[in-house]
Amino acid sequence: KTKIIKIDKDNVDRALIIDAVNIIKNSGLVAFPTETVYGLGANGFDENAAKKIFAAKGRPEDNPLILHVYSVEQVRELVEEIPDIAKKCMEEFWPGPLTILLPKSNKVPNIITAGLDTVAIRMPENKIALELIKMSNVPIAAPSANISGRPSPTSAKHVIDDLMDKVDMIVDGGETGVGLESTVLDLSGDLPMILRPGGVTKEDLQKIIPNVTIDFAIIKEDANIIPKSPGQKYRHYAPKSEMLVFSGDIDKITDAIIAKAKEYMAIGKRVGIICTDETKEIYKDGLIISMGSRRNNETIAHNLFNTLRLFDEENVDIILAEGVEPSHLGIAIMNRMMKAAGGRIIKV
Ligand code: TXA
Ligand code: MG
Repeated sequence: KTKIIKIDKDNVDRALIIDAVNIIKNSGLVAFPTETVYGLGANGFDENAAKKIFAAKGRPEDNPLILHVYSVEQVRELVEEIPDIAKKCMEEFWPGPLTILLPKSNKVPNIITAGLDTVAIRMPENKIALELIKMSNVPIAAPSANISGRPSPTSAKHVIDDLMDKVDMIVDGGETGVGLESTVLDLSGDLPMILRPGGVTKEDLQKIIPNVTIDFAIIKEDANIIPKSPGQKYRHYAPKSEMLVFSGDIDKITDAIIAKAKEYMAIGKRVGIICTDETKEIYKDGLIISMGSRRNNETIAHNLFNTLRLFDEENVDIILAEGVEPSHLGIAIMNRMMKAAGGRIIKV
């Protein structure tokens, strides 16, 4: 049985969090909001609790978990050392959507890191999450609170749809902000590298790490290049239906989508179109959902996963999606869209 509690993230009632803390202390699972997506949390020092996370999500065991902390102090026991560059990143971007990979200490159980010698750590920017970690007084291991392979949850409803009766508690703290998972930054080697693009962009990071690079495998569509981050190799964020992403000039995108929609409808398929406020009037047929203005990638990121889930509920056969400019937050948006489409991108 799953207990659902509502907490106001702007005015956190700590008395309500005590129940969640007790579950964490007893090796249980608590789904909670962060500023990116909902997380499925357990005590990061407790192997049995971590095992339950993998079981509840149906997550492959070779895919490591992120440890969530409430202070930089808490990081010290999780890593061998904190290099200066990592300290600077923490100062600049924490709390916030940046996960940092560093060589792990012996205190971190192998199940958390899937046997790797690095550990992923982040400090979320959400008062419920921070209070939960602080009161539990342990790092909280938390992947996104979805069934593996489904779009990450950006509201408590999404978590309930995926994990009802598979977890002990779901804390409903309203919609998440960013809407995409955190940026994963590898600072464990000589070359600082973004393994997963997210809310802290490459351009943001370059201000502190001028030589930061981005894992080639996540921006190329070539399926033969294996990404460095285990999670990136799965067909993530996937809706149930097929999906095609269109990239290029927006006028050409709309023409191409209209033509493709006609083709599919001619053979009796239910078509869904993911568009933007500027283009939504152009489409006449199919189920049309706008993610917001093309001029505002924050809104598009915020709405993307919910939009994918809406199409699932409507049982469309094929989703045709407008791509965005691949710079700044657009890189993360295109990365998630391409994952959802299984790499099927049409350049117009
Ligand atoms: O925004 C987020 O990061 C959310 C919220 C809940 O914090 N969490 C999240 O966790 O997205 P998850 O497990 O869905 O994604 C974690 C990603 C995976 O792609 C995983 O492979 C990668 O981080 N990762 C974790 N530890 C790693 C490691 N040691 N080396 C390489 N990649 C790692
Ligand atoms: Mg995930």
